Amino acid sequence: MTSFEERATAIADAGYNVFNLSARDVLIDLLTDSGTGAMSRDQWAAIQHGDESYAGSPSWFIFRDAVTELFPFRHVIPTHQGRAAERILFSVIGGPGHVVPSNTHFDTTRANVEFTGAEAVDLVIAEGRDPTNLHPFKGNLDTVALDALITTRGRDKVPLVMVTVTNNSAGGQPVSLENLRQVRAVCDKHRIPLFLDACRFAENAWFIREREKGQGGRDVADIVREMASLADGMTMSAKKDPLANIGGWLACNDDALAESCRNMLILTEGFPTYGGLAGRDLEAIAQGIRESVSHDYLRYRIQSTAYLGEALHRSGVPVFMPIGGHAVYLDAHGLLPHIPPLEYPGQSLAVALFEQGGIRGCEIGTVMFGLQPDGSEHAATMELVRLAIPRRTYTQSHIDYVIEVCQAVAEQASSLRGYRIVEQSPQLRHFTARFEPLR
Ligand SMILES: Cc1ncc(COP(=O)(O)O)c(C=O)c1O
Repeated sequence: MTSFEERATAIADAGYNVFNLSARDVLIDLLTDSGTGAMSRDQWAAIQHGDESYAGSPSWFIFRDAVTELFPFRHVIPTHQGRAAERILFSVIGGPGHVVPSNTHFDTTRANVEFTGAEAVDLVIAEGRDPTNLHPFKGNLDTVALDALITTRGRDKVPLVMVTVTNNSAGGQPVSLENLRQVRAVCDKHRIPLFLDACRFAENAWFIREREKGQGGRDVADIVREMASLADGMTMSAKKDPLANIGGWLACNDDALAESCRNMLILTEGFPTYGGLAGRDLEAIAQGIRESVSHDYLRYRIQSTAYLGEALHRSGVPVFMPIGGHAVYLDAHGLLPHIPPLEYPGQSLAVALFEQGGIRGCEIGTVMFGLQPDGSEHAATMELVRLAIPRRTYTQSHIDYVIEVCQAVAEQASSLRGYRIVEQSPQLRHFTARFEPLR
């Protein structure tokens, strides 16, 4: 435990950026669900089975088979985490003049697209930008806008279409099978490949099972395979639904693309049968993939996220509705309407949650998305603070404490002030920027 005064000193020393805190000063860490979950007994057992041969390790074949059981793409390329898959893919197919549409690019995806000189365009449906709208699939991509974008820019300028399941930057909201089929139809019409950013494929499939007409009795693994069958490839962070602490992969059906990506992989990640991972990591991921589609696990996972979100909603704290799969997103704009976007209401809320109760969340707003490639700064579409729930880690009483702290911060909302940035990097500034409070 820490006192308010200790936390106020820690966050000031961290330049008011929760990423700069020492994790020892954090009481409940909801910064991310990425790599922060607890591995199961069977994953730890699988680690003992790891084989560290440089090339062609048995652990590689176990990993590859677990991936293709759900995602039967012709080529699977292991990487040390999701952004490595993104960097390799976009360095091969991106570049100046190209445009990559998505429902919403996650921060690392957008940065890797833009780093090549290409443009990243978000085309989530209008309901997905409204925190109060109760549409069951707010992660859906606007297919009319997609068709218009491809027609205007020309198909040779669009190397692929990306769909993020679930949509992490916009409320952790799912994408329906119906929408994936419609996106596929637009891609077929223009002969453009469709890729999934599939980090939370199992949670997305669970929502399809729960919410989509005709999907109720299906096995989640079958739904995942159908999602994969609609795509030509995927990028993946194994730190999310596959329940591992590190890892990722890139997969596709296109032989020429796979060859170029493997060449890039060898340059910076490692040989194509380990891709920057130890054999033991490959085994832990393979076991995690199998556990990720368990119905009992997914029911518990989605209900425990909803437990936090619905309690906050009932007590009048503005949250992005409906509650997403891996996180509850506080609506900082709704809670702090007196702080303009360029004074970072999400940052102010994230700092207040830490000072009040040692809870670490993550701003997903103008700090994360406001800085443009030309150096200008625009308000983001939404000002959110994500409370991401690590998998199989916290108990209901930890979450009850989070609810109390959020309520206490909401009661003082009108006294919170904005921030200004005093130091920042040109890409992904939110990880390292330093701030000062405005008086
Ligand atoms: C939707 C999405 N895509 C990509 C990534 C990047 O994955 P990694 O952190 O493993 O590089 C993340 C990580 O948070 C994510 O949520």
